Amino acid sequence: MVEDIQEKNAEVVKVETEKEEKVIKKVVKKKTKKVVKKKEEKAPKLIDLPGVGPGAVAKLEAAGIFELMGLAVLGPSELSELAGMGEAVARKAIQAARQMMNLGFTDGFSFAEKRKEIDYITTGSKNIDDLLGGKGIETKSITEAFGAYGSGKTQLALSLAVNVQLPKEQGGANGKAVYIDTEGTFRPERIRQFAEKYDANPDKVLKNILVARAFNSDHQMLLLDKVSELIKDGEPIKLIIVDSLTAHFRAEFSGRGMLADRQQRLNRYLHQLSKLAEQFNLAVYVTNQVMSNPAQMFGDPTQAIGGNIVGHACTFRMYIRRGKKDSRVVKLIDSPNLPDGETVVMIETEGLRDVAV
Ligand SMILES: Nc1ncnc2c1ncn2[C@@H]1O[C@H](COP(=O)(O)OP(=O)(O)O)[C@@H](O)[C@H]1O
Ligand SMILES: [Mg+2]
Repeated sequence: MVEDIQEKNAEVVKVETEKEEKVIKKVVKKKTKKVVKKKEEKAPKLIDLPGVGPGAVAKLEAAGIFELMGLAVLGPSELSELAGMGEAVARKAIQAARQMMNLGFTDGFSFAEKRKEIDYITTGSKNIDDLLGGKGIETKSITEAFGAYGSGKTQLALSLAVNVQLPKEQGGANGKAVYIDTEGTFRPERIRQFAEKYDANPDKVLKNILVARAFNSDHQMLLLDKVSELIKDGEPIKLIIVDSLTAHFRAEFSGRGMLADRQQRLNRYLHQLSKLAEQFNLAVYVTNQVMSNPAQMFGDPTQAIGGNIVGHACTFRMYIRRGKKDSRVVKLIDSPNLPDGETVVMIETEGLRDVAV
């Protein structure tokens, strides 16, 4: 009798479990359908990630991260710090973001297709454009110019700030420039002079350059978050200039034993710059100073500030120095796909003039 009941009970349980399973399967099916539908409707957002609530989203946005890509490229500890969440949760959110974005290996063909998205900005000198592969500086990369005081790094920055506004057919990226000025050397008069070459309205050209004076390295960092916000608000920014990248870092972390700290912060800053470049398909141009390196016995005894950290983060590095008759010699260094070459230009009121070499 007891056994009988037990058997019956077991049967009931079995039937009910089967029923339940069917219901669950149905629900799951429905839900997946819904999710698939949703995916088709719009791209996933930060809030769709596991463990990321509205509070975390607000914190991330305050840190300049608005999209999955911004989060996907972070490390767990970095995200945990930024969003105020545990590292395990952060790791899961990053993994989910990467999965949703299909980050990973790409075949060579797709990679080449993606490279087609890249825009170019002419420097205003065919010689320098050729040195950089033919069309000037590229979006999705950082281009660095280093050289002594007065070598022409800022002149090149001003020229780019004008040229980015040109239509693509004329060598621009049809966008605006952000100019982060750490040394107070932005000169509106020079912008007007450069703009004249294109018969452009100088006031309009100036309005398309968003200038901010950075007063210290923290402020310089903060301004990058502002750039994300501007882009989110619809500003078509295609070029970020940081002139100079290293001056504040160098001045603030000059003491003994501060080098590691400086390099770490500089690294973080460059990381943020390259994320912006990648995320928003924009170009970054930074200037850098040189210091003399007494250990170098042959050749030019100067080297860029920031050493390897800056060198690795920048795709294109140019070294500018004064040449004969007030010319400027521009040299390309350590490019991944271009020969190290050298060219010569003159800086004139109307802009850069090529010198035959
Ligand atoms: N209107 C101009 N006409 C001709 N040359 C100029 C003009 N303005 C600046 N220059 C040249 O550019 C130099 C300054 O270059 P700059 O880009 O400011 O140097 P840095 O590398 O320190 O940023 C000046 O010494 C001068 O030779
Ligand atoms: Mg300068």
